[in-house]
Amino acid sequence: MTIHTAPTHDRSHIVLGIGGGISAYKSVDLVRRLKERGFEVRVVMTQAATALVTPLTFQAVSGHPVRTSLLDPGAEAGMNHIELARWADWLLIAPATADLMARLAAGIADDLLTTLALATNAPLCLAPAMNQHMWRHPATQENLQTLRERGARILGPAEGDQACGDSGPGRMLEPAELAEAMRPQAERRLIGVRTVLTAGPTREPLDPVRYLSNRSSGRMGYALAAALTHRGAQVTLITGPSALPVPTVAEVVQVETALEMHAAVLARMADCELFVATAAVADYRPLECAAQKRKKDAELLTLQLVRNPDILAEVAARESPPFTVGFAAETEQLEIHARAKLAHKKVNLIAANQVGGAVGGFDREDNALTVFWEGGSRALPLMSKPSLARELADLIAEHYRGADATAT
Ligand code: C5P
Repeated sequence: MTIHTAPTHDRSHIVLGIGGGISAYKSVDLVRRLKERGFEVRVVMTQAATALVTPLTFQAVSGHPVRTSLLDPGAEAGMNHIELARWADWLLIAPATADLMARLAAGIADDLLTTLALATNAPLCLAPAMNQHMWRHPATQENLQTLRERGARILGPAEGDQACGDSGPGRMLEPAELAEAMRPQAERRLIGVRTVLTAGPTREPLDPVRYLSNRSSGRMGYALAAALTHRGAQVTLITGPSALPVPTVAEVVQVETALEMHAAVLARMADCELFVATAAVADYRPLECAAQKRKKDAELLTLQLVRNPDILAEVAARESPPFTVGFAAETEQLEIHARAKLAHKKVNLIAANQVGGAVGGFDREDNALTVFWEGGSRALPLMSKPSLARELADLIAEHYRGADATAT
């Protein structure tokens, strides 16, 4: 999992990579629109792109020298490519040609732009632009899938008339649409927001060697903890047992049972501003945990289970609760159940997903969510959990800030 550290500057930094597609001319306008939205932009062009638009044009609109080569002593003396990779909060490539996507998917680093893509921690956004046959080719589609699985955000392409005379999918999105998709960091900041996030499953012991649990991997919770940290939140991750490496966050608390998770959460509620419950907490625990390993004497064994406290509902019911985000995994009637949970548990946001089907959900790499709040919802389509976590963290930040604005 990629861990991003929170930016310390005010303006969001975009390295805009220009590939050698005819729509490179549109990216001149894109630079202007990104700047209008508060981004600071540095342009990197491939050799092929320089045949279509001159670096001087991008220099004029961005107000900074344009980099075209990895081995340029003059440019490296200013900001070298590793510094540029660190400087970036985003790497946006527009247009992203079929060739560029293939090189990125293969991890080839034979020019400045592809080297930067490997060297940076910043999320990669791609605006594909190519002839419709090239777009539909299985090679391109497989590369796209690879990049998506690694967490790249794919913007477009649009359908319509193409420069080559064809009509179909492959047109780069318009600069205004691309700029709109790149919400500035400032709008999504959670700097210093004290956050408690639960993740993973819980284990409810039956005896010293056995327990009741579920199939949660902790993947979504860990990805979300990393995404919130990237946006500046001070995250305490309270996690049940998971095989995954824990992300770099402010504090990690390892627990096993629902009762331990409950206690760990409550102990941190005094100054908590944002509570995110991604954990798949066991609803019930065995009434008794046998002191010794249970023997298999009985033909029929009846277990008595007792309800665990609902951590999320309890947090949301506090006198002055933090902003609360819950999850709902449903096998049917997603919206009805999610809205009922939203109202019943009195939480601010519920991220609901359909489970039990062929794609997405527990212990999988991908997921899709629909996020509900009072009076609205937003569907986040099937994508890798790190990408989904970034989209969800943006949405949480928007709503958190919105709630803050109404409170003051
Ligand atoms: O009611 P249900 O278990 O479907 O609600 C799921 C949401 O509630 C999740 O956000 C989960 O983390 C949280 N939850 C909790 N404590 C429980 C059960 C669920 O915090 N005991």
